[in-house]
Amino acid sequence: MDRVLNLLADDIQLVEAQFRKDLDSRVPLIRKVGEYVLSSGGKRIRPMLLLLSARLVGYTGDAHVGLASVVEFIHTATLLHDDVVDSAVLRRGQDSANAIWGNEASVLVGDFLFAKSFSIMVRGGNLDILRALSDATTQMAEGEVLQLISTCDLDLDEEHYIEVVRNKTAVLLAAACRSGAILGDCPKEQEDALAAYGMDLGIAFQFMDDALDYVADQEEFGKAQGHDLLEGKVTLPLIHALRQCTADERQRAEVIVDQDELPQEDLDYVIKLIDTYDGILYTRERAGIFIDQAKARLNVFAEGPIKEALCILADYVVSRAK
Ligand code: IPE
Ligand code: IPE
Ligand code: MG
Ligand code: MG
Repeated sequence: MDRVLNLLADDIQLVEAQFRKDLDSRVPLIRKVGEYVLSSGGKRIRPMLLLLSARLVGYTGDAHVGLASVVEFIHTATLLHDDVVDSAVLRRGQDSANAIWGNEASVLVGDFLFAKSFSIMVRGGNLDILRALSDATTQMAEGEVLQLISTCDLDLDEEHYIEVVRNKTAVLLAAACRSGAILGDCPKEQEDALAAYGMDLGIAFQFMDDALDYVADQEEFGKAQGHDLLEGKVTLPLIHALRQCTADERQRAEVIVDQDELPQEDLDYVIKLIDTYDGILYTRERAGIFIDQAKARLNVFAEGPIKEALCILADYVVSRAK
């Protein structure tokens, strides 16, 4: 991953500076909360995807920096809202914004970031990019609602789970890639290939996030272990275990998922269940398949350092610990 970071270092620095500028508001609380989340150490995957996509198709202008900032703005807005919905108090190893300033401030600052993203895009004036990112934002909201209505549903199957994942997470990564491609005014075939790469990578990204929710080192991951289970989110590691476990095991899992609290022994029970039926292994394997598919989408492009960087980024998704 260091190669990718080095390749993009200058641009990412410009993107960071642009964030700060875009955050400007006459309301101090907006600046404070925005500054706090934006400087808390996100991985900047979505801006990187946009920057690399633009470069891959030969874009040489300077609009990519502003747009990469917008994509991270949208991501940040969804995180602010998501942590309220998920009652998460830990984000990127720090207190979440809602834990510090409360739900109201998080929701409203999230709204500001969404609205500001659209103002900036309109100023940019590219209708195709506006379409890609506004469609993605709409679908993300649908994804979060889809997830909400399947809370505590042990019958959620892999197909429906993937549908949630595609919408709540992958569409934004796909739209980041597509936007970079549109900037470069490339043939439609290349634009679609990059968007498909982003979609596959995004699905694998959420699979890994869901595996890490159970098995990551909490310190490094920066989010609380077992939080999905506490919130009644049925994700792939558990779905896979539930497909094979006994009726008794399923019944105990049902009780645990339905509870408002998650005692350590219950979390340990579910982790053990997932382990017994190779739920993490399966999730990693499925993520690996999407990553291979993502890389294959890039076959329409000639070999070169930027394509290689996109492949490194894809491999990073399945090896990451945070
Ligand atoms: C977190 O995304 C939300 C998910 C889609 C899993 P990231 O893991 O990209 O978050 P940061 O920005 O790097 O913290
Ligand atoms: C990602 O799902 C939600 C968004 C796309 C905002 P999660 O709820 O798993 O993300 P984290 O784990 O809180 O980052
Ligand atoms: Mg969450
Ligand atoms: Mg998660």
